[in-house]
Amino acid sequence: MASTPQTVQTHTSPSRYNFMILTATTLIGIVSIGYIGAAIAYLIPRKGEGSRPQSLGTVTADSITGPDGTSYSFQNGVAGPFIYDATGRGDAQGIYAVRKSASSPGVDLILGQTCTHLGCPVAWTAQSNSFNCPCHGSVYNKEGQNISGPAPAPLYKYNFTSKGDQVTVQGRQS
Ligand code: FES
Repeated sequence: MASTPQTVQTHTSPSRYNFMILTATTLIGIVSIGYIGAAIAYLIPRKGEGSRPQSLGTVTADSITGPDGTSYSFQNGVAGPFIYDATGRGDAQGIYAVRKSASSPGVDLILGQTCTHLGCPVAWTAQSNSFNCPCHGSVYNKEGQNISGPAPAPLYKYNFTSKGDQVTVQGRQS
């Protein structure tokens, strides 16, 4: 009696298995590319972004009142921190308005709140006439110059315009 050849039954044949692996790999690749593309698009500023004009508000002898009605008093010539959205996408940056002389009528400088060491927000201390970083102790003078601590550079300056009693911020200087 002749024996019939035995065939091995597998759940999936090799070609079907390869097709499933290829399909899964392709889907994972498409999803990954989508995420990577979204991350790159988020990180790279679009043309014209990063310098959006934003009114800081109305400047008086002793305060600045923002468009939302919030008032910031000058403390020894510095008011803030204000929130500036440079891109219009909610990229909030803290900034301070500075009068070099406490008796100046307008605004002489707009300084960023971000410490140039590792990015902590600095706080204005009127008593010591300095910006102080709570993280590692960097100290900046009223013009934003780093005077002690690990900060490697001055605070960032921002472009701004003054028209009458209105101040408009227009992006960070590079
Ligand atoms: S982040 Fe300001 S001193 Fe380190």
